[in-house]
Amino acid sequence: MRVLFTGGSGKAGKHVVAYLAAAGHRVVNLDRVALNHPGVHDFIADITDAGQMFSVMSGHAGYDELDQGPAKPFDAVVHFAAIPRLMMCADTETYRVNVIGTYNVIEAAVKLGIRKIIIASSETTYGVCFSEGVVDPKVLPLEEDYDIDPMDSYGMSKKVNEVTARSFQRRSGFDIYALRIGNVIEPHEYATVFPPLKDDPGLRRRITFSYIDARDLGQIVDLCLKKDGLGYQVFNAVNDTNSVPQENAELLARFFPKVPLSRPVGPQESLLSNRKIREVLGFKEQHNWRHYVKG
Ligand SMILES: NC(=O)c1ccc[n+]([C@@H]2O[C@H](COP(=O)([O-])OP(=O)(O)OC[C@H]3O[C@@H](n4cnc5c(N)ncnc54)[C@H](O)[C@@H]3O)[C@@H](O)[C@H]2O)c1
Repeated sequence: MRVLFTGGSGKAGKHVVAYLAAAGHRVVNLDRVALNHPGVHDFIADITDAGQMFSVMSGHAGYDELDQGPAKPFDAVVHFAAIPRLMMCADTETYRVNVIGTYNVIEAAVKLGIRKIIIASSETTYGVCFSEGVVDPKVLPLEEDYDIDPMDSYGMSKKVNEVTARSFQRRSGFDIYALRIGNVIEPHEYATVFPPLKDDPGLRRRITFSYIDARDLGQIVDLCLKKDGLGYQVFNAVNDTNSVPQENAELLARFFPKVPLSRPVGPQESLLSNRKIREVLGFKEQHNWRHYVKG
């Protein structure tokens, strides 16, 4: 597929772009900075500028396409560009860039007839990660039908983006899938992020102990590109198990003693559930952290 990817130069995007390109897609990266990945054309553009979104999205995917005459519409848009967490910018700027940027990207894609749109939402929409105070989830495991209620500017922006996506899906009938992405782990991070968790699993309480390998996130996006006809969907995008060695019986008793379970969970099963991507998309985890962390 010809895929326009926003935010491909970032932490998650660079691995997902590499995965999609290796899987045979023609990928174009739209970002404020270049990625410089072989075979992937970089457009420097700003998602908060609606005109630029329409312009890049209606253009060619590279110089080689000029010979074919006018540009053909992209087959899909994958939208990752964002301010990716709290306290990087002023709250107002995080909200502005993420909400206006996502509106611009989805509106341009829908009006240009691009029938598959995948957006990066976030685990923070569940309202635990960036909340003030030590906050419990209403129920565990976290599944996609949860009444999401973030209290921070970043989580709010991602919740609003899901509302925007759902509205545009209703208007267009196209497929628009929102990925509630967990904490993204790049291959080089296993050596530093995971060893301290053996003695201090509480470091990951706010993300209910979950993670997503950046390459497995590539697989999830690729599966979304291939799966048509689902309309508006939300998918948690995380690996199969928790990111800490302690089992759920201990974690639940220690960190979430008052939180009810909606169903039994396996000893290591991720408390941010990825059941839906496994059952609906056919996700098969390739990069369990235990393969990479010694001891
Ligand atoms: N990293 C995580 O753990 C995590 C977890 C959940 C969700 N997410 C979401 O996944 C996506 C990617 O996150 P990331 O960690 O790769 O972030 P990142 O900051 O590393 O990458 C984001 C990219 O977006 C680009 N960008 C920012 N503002 C832009 C603008 N106005 N116009 C064009 N490009 C712009 C940046 O230049 C950057 O390359 C984001 O939507 C983020 O909210 C990330």
